[in-house]
Amino acid sequence: MSDPVDMKDIVALCKRRGFVFAASDIYGGLNGFWDYGPLGVELKNNLRDLWWKSMVTTPPLGPTDSLYEGQPVSIVGLDSSIIQNPKTWEASGHLGGFSDPMVDCKETKKRYRQDHLVVLTSDQDKWVAFHEEEEDSAIEKRLKKLGLSGDLAKYERVNLTAIAVGDYAKIVAPDTKDIGTLTEPKEFNLMFHTFVGATADEDNKAYLRPETAQGIFLNFKNVMDSTRVRPPFGIAQIGKAYRNEVTPRNFIFRSREFEQMEMEWFCHPDEAEMWHKFWIEERKNWWESLGIKGDNVILRPHDADELAHYATEGMGTSDIEYKFPFTAPGYGELEGIAHRCDFDLKAHTEHSGQKLDYLDQVTNERYTPHVIEPAAGLTRGVLALICEAYTVDENRPSGVYLNFHPSLAPKKAAILPLTAKEEHAKPATQLYLALREEFAVDLDIKQNIGKRYARQDEIGTPYCFTIDNETLESGTVTVRDRNTMAQERIQLDEVADYLRERIKPVG
Ligand code: GAP
Repeated sequence: MSDPVDMKDIVALCKRRGFVFAASDIYGGLNGFWDYGPLGVELKNNLRDLWWKSMVTTPPLGPTDSLYEGQPVSIVGLDSSIIQNPKTWEASGHLGGFSDPMVDCKETKKRYRQDHLVVLTSDQDKWVAFHEEEEDSAIEKRLKKLGLSGDLAKYERVNLTAIAVGDYAKIVAPDTKDIGTLTEPKEFNLMFHTFVGATADEDNKAYLRPETAQGIFLNFKNVMDSTRVRPPFGIAQIGKAYRNEVTPRNFIFRSREFEQMEMEWFCHPDEAEMWHKFWIEERKNWWESLGIKGDNVILRPHDADELAHYATEGMGTSDIEYKFPFTAPGYGELEGIAHRCDFDLKAHTEHSGQKLDYLDQVTNERYTPHVIEPAAGLTRGVLALICEAYTVDENRPSGVYLNFHPSLAPKKAAILPLTAKEEHAKPATQLYLALREEFAVDLDIKQNIGKRYARQDEIGTPYCFTIDNETLESGTVTVRDRNTMAQERIQLDEVADYLRERIKPVG
């Protein structure tokens, strides 16, 4: 991503070309829910498969200067249920602690996350609250409308969380004109609930999982009993998670239904720090190998006041963050790598009565493993890839192209007969049928060639093979490179090798 781009253009391209649609679009959508279209699902699957490969199929070699140097670490996969026994969420702390403090506006009935509001304080009796991302020009306008000075230098900006509830009486809420309409903050649990079975009562209440991680802890014993893995080892899972986010926003960045790619790494407590460092580095390298790199990605250790509900003193999380167009020049979380200590296994042991520990037969030591958890957003990753790939280029008809690494591109190549006539269309179809056995390719016969190139540029297809008169004479095709638009001729029978060579996964 060269210049900061407008999210509106990215969202428009995603809809126009079939990457992402608003869920239930024909009914006006549903806030926080999205559908992945024909190309979006291919891109998402490619990212998912590269993650799975990097974790389960070809996991990395262990840390240098350790016992594990040069040896592949062991990680196995899992696909657990979205709805689990509700005791799961009592034990994990999600029922008690997984909530955001919210304030309501008594007048407009709007609800805000307390930490998303900022207040302009002064020695006056009217303080003005606004959404943290609101632009200065809009704030100045509003101040004037409220009969206050529009000079922002005259006020102090304070997050609502730092204001005493007693002072709420002075505050004008974001969408109203009068002071004193904000309620005290109340905790709002983020889990969706449903009822299992025919009766909708408390006894049958169950929850949609707010993270995939807990399904892994519940299966720690099953996996140990049924496979040969022993600490240190990991269990990896990809799947949907649900959070009733109060303010879903920024397209698919924060949604109410999303997908996660999580791995729980179980190790000896004495080795936890080493593995934490190892996974932080591995995960950052992985995102970089997909093109999420340079100044657009940073590693940010959490501050002490950001501890998750399961965290205790001494546990740390580092986030891998990406400079999304809506966070720039700041960054937004892509993945967190947490040191969860033995919180989860101990909590589930206590609540289930089942021992979730490990007896090392060699040392005869029994211990509860500590957990390092690299937890990434799959759907959020898709957004980062699209933002990173979005490249404005006024020198081409589409005006923009998506610069995906070929291993991630939804279509690896397009086969384009120069004309729709039989002499071009027939060999093009033959080439398409041969390639599709191995690659996701597109056969596009109609329209003029310029329009077809433009479409492929916009969906990020790295290569276009064109069949023309010379193909019939010399058995060659032209290859057009998406990024440079340069063309060269290669033999028809070299096409598969050409593609194979270039789309090798990098992750
Ligand atoms: N098991 C730990 C856990 O769930 P998290 O930081 O809450 O940690 C992990 O979530 C990742 O899931 C985040 O880094 C983010 O990429 C993604 N994620 C979390 N909430 C999301 C939401 N509402 N919409 C989209 N992605 C989300």
